[in-house]
Order: sequence, then C-alpha cells, then structure tokens
Amino acid sequence: MCGIIGYIGQQPATPFLMQGLNRLEYRGYDSSGIAVRNGSLEIHKCIGKINDLESILPDSIEGTTGIAHTRWATHGGVTDANAHPHCSENGKIALVHNGIIENARSLRTRLEKEGIHLKSETDSEALVHLIDRELSNGAKPLTAVRRTLKKARGTWGLCVVFEDHDMIICARNGSPLVIGIGDGENWIASDTLPLQSYTQQVILLDDGDLAVVTSDGIQTSRFDGRSTDSTVTTLEDDWGEADIGDFPHFMLKEIHEQPEALRQCISGRLVLKDGNSRLGGLGISPKKLQKIPHVRLLGCGTSLHACQVGRIAIEHLARVPALAHVSSEFRHNNPVIETNALHFAVSQSGETADTLAAVKEIQLKGGDVRGVINVVGSTIARQCGHGCYIHSGPEQAVASTKAFTNMVAALSMFAIQIGRARNLSQVRGKELVRAFKKIPEKIEHYLKNQGPIQEAVDCIKDAKSVLFLGRGVSAPVAREGALKLMEIAYIPCLAYPAGEMKHGPIALLEEGSPVVVIAPNDSLKEKTISSIHECRARGAKIILIHEEGDSIAEEADISIPVPSTESILSPMLTVVPLQLIAYETALQLGCDVDRPRNLAKSVTVE
Ligand code: M6R
Repeated sequence: MCGIIGYIGQQPATPFLMQGLNRLEYRGYDSSGIAVRNGSLEIHKCIGKINDLESILPDSIEGTTGIAHTRWATHGGVTDANAHPHCSENGKIALVHNGIIENARSLRTRLEKEGIHLKSETDSEALVHLIDRELSNGAKPLTAVRRTLKKARGTWGLCVVFEDHDMIICARNGSPLVIGIGDGENWIASDTLPLQSYTQQVILLDDGDLAVVTSDGIQTSRFDGRSTDSTVTTLEDDWGEADIGDFPHFMLKEIHEQPEALRQCISGRLVLKDGNSRLGGLGISPKKLQKIPHVRLLGCGTSLHACQVGRIAIEHLARVPALAHVSSEFRHNNPVIETNALHFAVSQSGETADTLAAVKEIQLKGGDVRGVINVVGSTIARQCGHGCYIHSGPEQAVASTKAFTNMVAALSMFAIQIGRARNLSQVRGKELVRAFKKIPEKIEHYLKNQGPIQEAVDCIKDAKSVLFLGRGVSAPVAREGALKLMEIAYIPCLAYPAGEMKHGPIALLEEGSPVVVIAPNDSLKEKTISSIHECRARGAKIILIHEEGDSIAEEADISIPVPSTESILSPMLTVVPLQLIAYETALQLGCDVDRPRNLAKSVTVE
C-alpha cells in the first residue's frame, strides 16, 4: 500500500526520492508525489506511475531535504489533488501520510468552518492544516506535530517538511517508519527496502514515537513528550537482489529464486543425525513442545494457504491438533485463547493489518504468538518478539511465490521439531530431513523441465472460470494456484478439496471446462482419480500436476510432472507449475503481472 521516502543531507534530495519511489513501487500505488525544500517548498504530484511523475518534474530541483510518497487510494478517488504530499494553505508545510485518520471527517468539517479551503478529499490533508494552525499560534514544529496528532484518531506513519525549518518530523502509530542513518545525511522510509543501498544502520520507530530528523541528528521522543533512546539496528545482509536483473518481471525472477530461497530457509535448521529440525528463534524447549495442547496458525491470502499446509503437517507428524485461521475474521469472533497453546502469525511482509490485529487479540488474552515472517524487523515480527524468519529475500511481485514455499518449509520444519519432541521416531525424522534437503535441487530440476505450461495456458486463458482441485495437503495448494491465477490474470477461479467437487462445483462443468488437479502420489491419489473421472465424464479438460513417472499421467489431458518427494513435503514442488501457469496466462492476456489492478503488496488496512 502507500509508501514513504524522505531524505535530508548535503546532496540533492530528488534523486534519492525518485529512486526510493521506484523501490516502493512494489507495494502497489495509484499516484505519487514529492516535496523538496528548495527555498520554498516545491511540490509535484500526479496520478499514474513513477514515470509519469518523472515526466512532470523540472530538469533539476536543488534542495537537499525532501519527502515523497506513493499513494494507494483509500479516502478519496485516484486524482492529482488526492496524491500526497499535501500542503498548508501558505505552502510552507508539506506532509505525506500512510494509514487512516478515522476522525478525518470531523477534523475536516471543523477546519472548513474556520475558513480553510481543503484541496483534496483525503483524511491526510486535515493534518497539515492542523500543524499549520499550531505553528501560527507559536508552537515549535515538533510541538505542532505532537499537538495535531493528539487530535487525530487512527493510524499513521507520516513525514512533515517545513519551508522555515531544515528538518523532517516523522511519527509512527500503526504504520511503519524506519530511519536510515548516514554520515551527515539521513533517510526515512516506510520499509527498509529503499534504504538498503545507502545504509545498514537503521532506527525502527515504535508506535507512539516521533522523531526530528536533521542532516546530522535524530531525536526521538514519545507521543507524551518523553524523549527516548532509540536503538540502532544493523540490517542483515539480504541474500537476494532487490533489482530485477535479466528477468522481465519480478514474479518470474522470484519463481526462479525458489531453490536458493529454500536453501536459505533450511540452512542450519535441518539436523540429519537427529532426524530433527531446529527453529531456534522460536525459543520453545522440547519440554514445552510436549505440553502444547494445540497449535493455531493465522494468515491471509497466500500466507493463509501456507498455514493450511502447515496445519496438516503438524497434525500429521506431531499428532497435535492444529487449526488454520483467516486473520481478518479471527478477532471479530471473540476467539477463546488457551494460554498454553501455540499460535503462529504467518506473513511475508510482516505488516498485514489483519494478521497484526489477530496477534494483538491473542496477546491481549494472554496467548503466546510466534511470527513466521519474511521481512526482518517488520511490525508483526517485533510484536511477536519470538519467531522464525523465512529468509526468502526481497519479494516484490504482488503475487507471492517464494514466500509461500518458504513459509511451508518453515512450518514443515516446525512440524518435524514438535513431532520429534513427541512421538515422531528418529528413523522417520531422518527420512523426512533427507527428503527435505533435496527439495531445492528438485525445484531446480523442475524449473529446467517445466512441462507443457503453454498448453495449459491455451486451455484456460479464455475460460469463464477455472476449477482447482486437490486433497489433503494438496487442497491448500489448489487454493494457492487459484489465488495466483485469479489475482494476476483476473480469471474467476474456484478451489475445492477434490471430494467436495461433487457437492456443488460440478454444476459448473461443461464441455471444455478447465480443471486443474494436484495429485501427488499419496494415499489420497486413488480418490482424486475418482474426482478426475467425474470431471471428465462432464467434458472437463484435466490439467494434472503429478509426480514424475506416475501412471496417473494417463488420466490427464495435459500432464505436468514434478519430481517426487515425501508427500507431506510435496506442496513445495506442486505449487511451482501453478505459479508458472498463472504467470504465463497473465502475460498472454496482457495483464500487469507484477502490479495487478487494485492489489497492494503489503495490506496495511483492516
Ligand atoms: O504479507 P502477507 O504475507 O501477510 O500478505 C498476505 C496477503 O495479502 C498476500 O499473501 C496476498 O494474498 C498475495 N497477493 C498473494 O499472492
């Protein structure tokens, strides 16, 4: 969703701001803008892509202090006026804001009554006028921002620049902000990605923090005025390249990065001699693992599908009851929280508002939550305190791919770990660990021999809808395949456990209807074959994802083999052709693969 970048230092700010905006594009946006302190405040903004903003900028903008924003519309349509930065009537203050000001309507009404002409329909604009009013009444900049925020209700990550003061004031409450520390220069951003080429030293602001950032200093304080000592965090070197390299799209790059991403995730965590895995960051002793009455996993979208795979793996290997929950529903159902139970919050971005809200609900009720997160230092990771990073490297395509594989890997490792602490034998543990370690090379093997993906694309690209079926651990894989195709190729997709098909979705089938079936060589395969027969009897075309060398291939119209593995680990392989089918279909239909319409990479509103 919305993104922020700010710069203050000795060098021209605009190149940093534009580069930062490019780095923030992956979050999803519909307009962008910059404000640079260049004598007066120079503001440029427009709807469309960063290229559109670039095309309206003057040849050079001199200032060395500035802020910039990518907006994903919430309050007010996609218009130039609604794009950020917003500025005060006298043009001396500019503000960019992520989050939602819940009482914006009453704040705006009051301002209008006072004769202020608001230029946009946004909730954010009210803040800049309130700051202006405080400054006119004699307040210092920090006090003006603090007093303004005291009048606001909602969430914010915001930056403010002033014509008359060479500083950037930023504040965080519910929307992340990170300050990057340089030598005689500092940056502010809504996530660490735009900062990584400039500095590894960062301050991660907490909710309720404000900071005054100048070229040679950062002063942090709390909402109530107390000054704070901010902790400097050194960003880990991410193994992945944030740049697209030679790939035409981030999604394709990230699909191909899966073998390496998986190696990064399992490295040092799978212990063959013990037939065990070790997720040290969870901080749970074998003794505690033995006593956990149940496990609950929470996520949204792709992360939810990873939770559903993890749930099955945990029950299967550890014989511990496990449940996967849709984060956005969780807290609204007044969940009963068992304090001895273990909860996992699963999220690539670590910023998903629905999952964060679920974490807070569990904690409020005394429950124990661990994060399974990709982005280091993200809000959910910090809120959980303990957890396991999945080490996928930067994932920038809106359609999540390598994060899914690594979430499944992390949860499967946990399943082995809790299984070994209970009844899983060392012999069985060793078989699983051995198979696990081979998966990266098996994905590599598959990526070199992808099978008839184009044939599958030809079969589905003009379909009214596509049905995805799988059983057991392949049912969530079917859901993931459907989500992928739907979100980037805009084809309505349904995903069902194969056995449910005859209870309703079968009504959709007619001559030529594409049905994608995921059927690894597991104990459920025979039953899946029955579902395939039911589909074929109604004229459906079967695109079958199955294991290499399996005679089930004969049941398919289009057969896509993947290397075989332990069936509980198969989702890490069977999902890959589904990702490719979605990618190639979207491409063929002329869709914007990396930035599908209406979607944002990190969904920071509930
Ligand atoms: O960052 P998160 O993993 O918490 O994001 C959850 C979903 O928003 C995300 O997986 C979404 O469904 C993706 N676009 C799927 O490709």
